[in-house]
Amino acid sequence: VTQAPVVTPISSPPAGEMGRGPWPRTARAGGTGVVSVGGVALRQIAAEYGTPAYVLDEQDVRQECRAYLAAFPGGEVAYAGKAFLCRSMARWVDEEGLSLDVCSAGELSVAASVGFPPEKLILHGNAKTPDDMHAALEYRVGRIVIDSLSEISRLAAQVPQRQRVLLRVTPGVDAHTHAALTTGIDNQKFGISMADGAAADAVRRIVAQPCLDLVGLHCHIGSQITVPDGHELAARRLTGLMAAIRDEHGITLGQLNLGGGLGVAYADGDPELDLPAFARRLRAAVDRECAALRLPVPRITVEPGRAIVARAGVTLYRVISVKHRPDGHVFVAVDGGMSDNPRPSLYGASYTVRVVGRPAGSASQPATVAGRHCEAGDILARDVPLPVDIRPGDLLVTACTGAYHHSMAANYNMVGRPPVIAVRDGHARVLVRRETDADLRRRDVGM
Ligand code: LLP
Repeated sequence: VTQAPVVTPISSPPAGEMGRGPWPRTARAGGTGVVSVGGVALRQIAAEYGTPAYVLDEQDVRQECRAYLAAFPGGEVAYAGKAFLCRSMARWVDEEGLSLDVCSAGELSVAASVGFPPEKLILHGNAKTPDDMHAALEYRVGRIVIDSLSEISRLAAQVPQRQRVLLRVTPGVDAHTHAALTTGIDNQKFGISMADGAAADAVRRIVAQPCLDLVGLHCHIGSQITVPDGHELAARRLTGLMAAIRDEHGITLGQLNLGGGLGVAYADGDPELDLPAFARRLRAAVDRECAALRLPVPRITVEPGRAIVARAGVTLYRVISVKHRPDGHVFVAVDGGMSDNPRPSLYGASYTVRVVGRPAGSASQPATVAGRHCEAGDILARDVPLPVDIRPGDLLVTACTGAYHHSMAANYNMVGRPPVIAVRDGHARVLVRRETDADLRRRDVGM
């Protein structure tokens, strides 16, 4: 039995703060148990736009952009578009004064479609395809981050005019995060190693190409990091390489790009990154190292993706079935799953799930929230407290789904990807519409 969704008037969202934790700043829970984000009742969003649905709090995104800019005065904050990108997001980021990191012709085309300033674009990628490179050169992106030796001659042969480049190096720093998200050590696919002289060799090859203008170094040591030690060590090592480049080539590099990877809380009680303190430690490390090496202090770039958008997003699901197993386990199956959130399967990620429209404090039991897809591993959250009388038709909301959800969504079982609904000041609007069966069939052109 599927209950008809109850519509709560926009004008009276309950006022109780939910506390920051993994939630958007504007998330509210109250006496009626209704949860709202951006002043819009989640029940109303589900009723109007259906489920599953990604909901994104515009104000929260903007506030996070401002917090990052404030933490790095004089620095550059480049939003990593891979976390979540659509035209509105690109516009918000531009309006807030951030640069944008893109890593494919597709991401670049979104940025180009809203006229994102080319000089504020940074192209990444360990295997940039001819199409990626062509799109970047055509749009005249400000900087291309060289990731391999072969890319140097390839790029030099193609650039129509002098092109600013950075060199991505691996500083040999283990960020002690999930293995799939560790990118600062030598034994992985990104960048050029500093350890065996390969980075110095790459610099020689770049400076030998008159059409390539080496303006800085880049590294990205991993993701979901909340302590500054790894970034600090990387900053020190890259600054050392900058001094070596000055000594060998007489070139002073002006840019030090330390990548992203700044972590967020996915659940209440998860470690929180203290952004001002983190930024102070990085800036101080660079200042100290430069003073010791008599090097002018480069401009620091950071590339947060998750930290800008993860907590601004929540996902709404409708409960489809509830199974009480003989051993006491409760499986709550919803109308989404690994196609809209592959992170639990990929990284063992844990999520915070709440029921929408129940008074806080109603008796709860641990339950496993499962998806609709045809495999046993399609689990969204394990052992999360949900009301004992949870039933089909109930609405669930998962916190912290703004980053790497829509961008990693897939069509397993021919399920269309959910829409992205922006909320702000009591209004909701569609940023990305739901993918329909017709959309899915459109690419199927054989007979
Ligand atoms: N810059 C570069 C060059 C990157 O490769 C990345 C992420 C970032 C910045 C942004 O990292 P962030 O601040 O978002 O951690 N799919 C994974 C995350 C993969 C991140 C890959 N590169 C996840 O869902 O956790």
